[in-house]
Amino acid sequence: MCGIVAYIGKKEAYPIILKGLKRLEYRGYDSAGIALINKDELNVFKKAGKVSNLEEFMLDQDHAGNSGIGHTRWATHGLPTDTNAHPHVSMDGSIALIHNGIIENYDALKQELVRQGYLFKSETDTEVLVHLVDFISKKENVWFGEALRLSLLNVVGAYAIVAISKNFPNQMVAARKSSPLVVGIGATGDFYLASDATPIVEYTKQVVYLEDEEIAVIKLGEELKIYNISDQEKTPYIQQLELELEALEKGGYEHFMLKEINEQPRSIQDCFRGRLNAKEGWVSLGGIKDYEQKMIQANRLILVACGTSWHAALVGEYLIEDLARINVEVEYASEFRYRNPILTENDVVIAISQSGETADTMAALELAKSKGATILGICNVVGSSISRITHAGSYTHAGPEIGVASTKAFTAQVTVLILMALSLGHKKGTVSESEFRILLAELEEIPNKVKKVLESNALIEQIAREYKDASNALYLGRGSSFPVALEGALKLKEISYIHAEGYPAAEMKHGPIALIDENMPIFVVATKGKSYEKVVSNIQEVKARKGKIIAVVTEGDEQVRAMADHVIEIPETNEFLVPLLATIPFQLLSYHIAVMRGCNVDQPRNLAKSVTVE
Ligand code: F6R
Repeated sequence: MCGIVAYIGKKEAYPIILKGLKRLEYRGYDSAGIALINKDELNVFKKAGKVSNLEEFMLDQDHAGNSGIGHTRWATHGLPTDTNAHPHVSMDGSIALIHNGIIENYDALKQELVRQGYLFKSETDTEVLVHLVDFISKKENVWFGEALRLSLLNVVGAYAIVAISKNFPNQMVAARKSSPLVVGIGATGDFYLASDATPIVEYTKQVVYLEDEEIAVIKLGEELKIYNISDQEKTPYIQQLELELEALEKGGYEHFMLKEINEQPRSIQDCFRGRLNAKEGWVSLGGIKDYEQKMIQANRLILVACGTSWHAALVGEYLIEDLARINVEVEYASEFRYRNPILTENDVVIAISQSGETADTMAALELAKSKGATILGICNVVGSSISRITHAGSYTHAGPEIGVASTKAFTAQVTVLILMALSLGHKKGTVSESEFRILLAELEEIPNKVKKVLESNALIEQIAREYKDASNALYLGRGSSFPVALEGALKLKEISYIHAEGYPAAEMKHGPIALIDENMPIFVVATKGKSYEKVVSNIQEVKARKGKIIAVVTEGDEQVRAMADHVIEIPETNEFLVPLLATIPFQLLSYHIAVMRGCNVDQPRNLAKSVTVE
């Protein structure tokens, strides 16, 4: 959470930083600010609200300067006000600093700084950092870069920080621990820093991802220098970015979310490109190949994740247990990490995360690693923290997901889990050769079938119009469609602010049925398969209480059509693959309802894309 961006070089810094902030706004959007060094002046501009507020304010300001830092905030300490917005500035006005993360011991540090005569303007934890850097630089008589390093020795918490000083206008320092930070190396001796590579990609493809407790020291005219917190120099590991600029634009769609929903035929295809060949009858997840025997022999596979990724993990549990007959447990990362779980070297913990930066998921992995378990990752963002701390992993290759509500990342995660279940099951012999080949062929057909589901958009929009004013909604499903129901409910509540709950269909009569009346829409996955008849009975129970049924059904289904208020058909597919299709109507429904209610679809209130705090 919070996005940070910085530039130092010969170009005007302001347009680069502003554009970068817009790209990073998915990480937080309650206030924004920029500090620029122009000759020997440090100018700071901050505004509550979105980056566009800051942009408007800057129209009348002098924003010259070849070095600067910018921040878009997701509030942790203090309300989203102009004063609490970053950058924060030292009392003498010389140093400015931006921060993503949380300083856990900020209160103790603040009390000490107050005793030393420092006055605090904001309620943020970050302001402590800038005063501490100033205090140490004066006390130890060192430049602000060294003062930042010494300060961090006293800091407990998570941080990605960039600092500048008007006394050293050609220099910039940055540090990270548990929050991401990338340095881009420009062709003309300039440097770009950001929380992820999206603000950097149009200027350079040469990047260095900082590791935990590393400090980057940038001096114009010199090479990038990296030190660890104990001041030992390290060789920067320069990587080539594979990200393309077009992937970051809306491409003619009104919202990123709609674009990303519509990208799913391609993103699913990209996910299994080179990993599956139905004709030749093989599937291979190169990244985890060397760990497959370990997984087959493991005590348990423990899937840890949060939010939508946790729903993908639940789908994975159904698939891996059924196809590969390996014991799977699914855990909320936030609970797992504090539960003192029993873990051994025979456990394999697999983190699922779009961003690869979620703080709870990272901590769960670190805990598992410390207890000797093998840790693997399924991430979307290449080079992300989770992908770097795990023993091995598989990328989802869904491309950048910018809408805060996760859509294509979910179906890509499920695709990786299907490939994993098939590969393990085939190697273990629990999936017969014929079933294996049938599933591979079916999987190859999925992108075309997703296209077909997307053709129901107009019908789904019509249905959305009918239910847009509901105050509550229930989502029901069974088997691997139960997580689809959970995901449908999450999508609706997070972007339209309608209260929604997902349940296994059979659980309805153990409580939620009391809520059903003629005003309650109930969204059901009622596709053909093992539980079809049972779900049909659940639909009848709803109809007997005058609830409204909106059912996702298999093409040609007449039985549910006769009972339901609305049906949305999806093409027939193997039951294991239904989640990839059934989830899409729910994404579109939430999208249209949110648009009709006038909600900010891509940046729903109180949320951020990358949750790097607990
Ligand atoms: C919901 C959503 C969140 C994320 C969750 C985990 O649409 O996007 O629930 O799924 O914050 O994020 P990652 O997958 O980045 O670990």
